[in-house]
Amino acid sequence: MRLVGVLSVVLPWIYVVSASKPGLVNTNVIRTVDLQGLPFVREQVGVVVQNEHDSKVYKTYTISVPMDKAPKLSQLSVHERKSGEELDVSKETVSGDTQLYRATLRRGLQPGEKLSLNIDYLFVSLVEPRPKAVGQSEDQSWLWEDQSLVASVYPTRKQKTVVKTRGDVLRFTPADAVKDGRHSVVFGPYTSDKSSRVEVGFKDNREQMEALTHGREYFVSHWANDLNVLEHYALRNRGPELSGGFDKVDQMVSKYMKRRDNLVKTLLVKVPADAREMYFVDEIGNVSTSAVSGRRKGEEPFKVLQMRPRYPMPGNWNYTWWHGYSVPLDRYLKISSAAAQPKHLLRLPFIGTLAGCASQEGELTVAMANAQNTAVRAYELRVTLPEGARDIDVKLPFAGQALLQPTKYYFDSVGRTVVVITHENIAPEMSSRHILVSYSYAPLTLWMKPAVVAAALFMLFMLASTASRMQYGLTPSSVSKPAGATTKSKATKKQAAAGKTE
Ligand SMILES: *[C@@H]1O[C@H](CO)[C@@H](O)[C@H](O)[C@H]1NC(C)=O
Ligand SMILES: *[C@@H]1O[C@H](CO)[C@@H](O)[C@H](O)[C@H]1NC(C)=O
Repeated sequence: MRLVGVLSVVLPWIYVVSASKPGLVNTNVIRTVDLQGLPFVREQVGVVVQNEHDSKVYKTYTISVPMDKAPKLSQLSVHERKSGEELDVSKETVSGDTQLYRATLRRGLQPGEKLSLNIDYLFVSLVEPRPKAVGQSEDQSWLWEDQSLVASVYPTRKQKTVVKTRGDVLRFTPADAVKDGRHSVVFGPYTSDKSSRVEVGFKDNREQMEALTHGREYFVSHWANDLNVLEHYALRNRGPELSGGFDKVDQMVSKYMKRRDNLVKTLLVKVPADAREMYFVDEIGNVSTSAVSGRRKGEEPFKVLQMRPRYPMPGNWNYTWWHGYSVPLDRYLKISSAAAQPKHLLRLPFIGTLAGCASQEGELTVAMANAQNTAVRAYELRVTLPEGARDIDVKLPFAGQALLQPTKYYFDSVGRTVVVITHENIAPEMSSRHILVSYSYAPLTLWMKPAVVAAALFMLFMLASTASRMQYGLTPSSVSKPAGATTKSKATKKQAAAGKTE
């Protein structure tokens, strides 16, 4: 799938509207809006394009994304319907209130010729709860709203929109739309070019989470054969707010009666089966976790880390925390010794998965960890390479760029490189993608760090012994207090993790 947002072509490209001469025309458009996997919204626009110009040949097709939806676009891909071939898409300028994209056709569309295209959009967090607030155990309802006509730079002769929901359709506007079964509404066909607001209100009680920010850091340590993973989340429950406040009694009753409610109580994170030294820290301190093992066909064995936030999360509540674990590095690192300088190849998951869960403790299943109910809006991935890693090359699973940031930790002699990758609006498919980082690393550098530490310790020892000799007999013996346990801040956490990377 072709990813957008990163490929920004700087070439000035001018779109010329010529009202007098007809050019490309959408003779038929069918839009399907799939709301069954919220918070992700999949839109497919099937379009039949005809070249109605009498001499001009068209090599590209322009796609419009209205600016009220563009910031929530995660992916955009265009396929020729007949051949199934994917077309190249580049991001163009903003024209008025639409963001334009341009698909390059495989061959020019001749005068009189027709072509069918499938345009697939993936949006995150596009629908909102309406009403905004409901009681603790009431149903959640959501509102999808859009224009009746698909935005296009070309005239469109005929079109319709089909909206599919997971829960029951409760209402729709305008009234002349047609409800097709309990989970589908059809708007159109429309033949005029007058667009109006269309809406579908529907029930959907599944959890919907949104990570406003999510960070993942890998610390590579050859010395300890250790890959340390640290994750940070600022998470929000996208569900409706709690009206009337939290009722503890009601929650006890609903737990006893095995009734559902709108409070997210558990966060499920899939980690590799051999993950060890797992921890979960929030602003207050350590939080207890437990893990159960699972396996899914075609996937590596995993464990599900169950984390219980300090409070059940109603809609629009936020929770911020860090969690981490270690895995053996050799499962992710390949060393090719063909050249004089051994080349190191790291293959790391681009992002992990998180699922929010409103179910009661006893009802949790491993399948719930695969629920894909968390949309990540802003993501940052950092890979801290060992000291002495050189000739660094990064391959991403999408069109984009990695930043190489020089960093120095305690006891570092030459410092190390951190690979930084950022991405917005993560699609669920991204959790099965990997990044590849290759670098050369002379075995000699493996000894550099211990040598620096040894030198530092020796200096300290010398200083201490000199000082104690000087002070001997001058001061009364003082009682030394053991260092108190304090809540770890992000910085110390990082250093602790970095300390492990030696
Ligand atoms: C938190 O957990 C870690 C790892 O289990 C432990 O080393 C640390 O002492 C704990 N901190 C507190 C404040 O309990
Ligand atoms: C959670 O965070 C969002 C975005 O920062 C904010 O709008 C919202 O008010 C927060 N919720 C609460 C209950 O503070």
